[in-house]
Amino acid sequence: MAQRPYIVGNWKMHGTRSMLAEARAIDRAAERLIKVEVALAPPATLIHAIRKEAGLIGVGAQDCHAAEGGAHTGDISAAMLKDAGADFVIVGHSERRADHCESDAIVQPKARSALAAGLAVIVCVGETEQQRNAGEAERVVAGQLAGSLPQGDLVADKIAEKIIVAYEPVWAIGTGRVPTVEDIGAMHRAIRAKLVEIYGEAGAAIRILYGGSVKPENAAELLAADEVGGALVGGASLTAESFVGIIAAAADRDG
Ligand code: 13P
Repeated sequence: MAQRPYIVGNWKMHGTRSMLAEARAIDRAAERLIKVEVALAPPATLIHAIRKEAGLIGVGAQDCHAAEGGAHTGDISAAMLKDAGADFVIVGHSERRADHCESDAIVQPKARSALAAGLAVIVCVGETEQQRNAGEAERVVAGQLAGSLPQGDLVADKIAEKIIVAYEPVWAIGTGRVPTVEDIGAMHRAIRAKLVEIYGEAGAAIRILYGGSVKPENAAELLAADEVGGALVGGASLTAESFVGIIAAAADRDG
């Protein structure tokens, strides 16, 4: 694979300044493991501090509002995140889809506003257990991609630098359960086909991350699955010790 594997830690609603030491340790490891592109998505309150204290890794946010600004109490615009030091923003995470009733129609304008502000965007998709058991996983994910991915003039060039997809089966998040390597490969191939359908040739270079119970112990196996370009890691990104284990597994993958 031409691109470096991309390993992103999503700290979710965890982290105060006492965790900056973890970010610094992750940054030092990234300096050593240069074959891997490493990033953290801390709570918005830590973006600026991590940007200042961990200069090598990417820093991103976990959500943004679709509007540039205005009367939206409690929300943060993509331009504000950029101003705080963010390089990217995650949109459409299943926890936001569930906790805040975010549909594809809400996620897509967020992705567009991220690009308009000069941020890269990680668009999350993934089926529930019920949908998988009903044999609907690929159909559901294809629908989320069509509905959530930014399209149009904003994505005319450098598509693969600006857009990343994260496949996170809802039932694998925080549960310790993971799909088989075959199932991950099959879904990632289906996502690739959809990306090429949407973006043409440029869709072939978009990175597709796997997320859901990635740990140092299973990272090598999961990262070896077909079309997996990296990982979006929740719980195991909260300490440098476990996150660096995953980064090291990614560095080993490409020899
Ligand atoms: P866990 O790694 O804790 O399962 O979380 C995955 C996730 O939701 C990352 O965005």
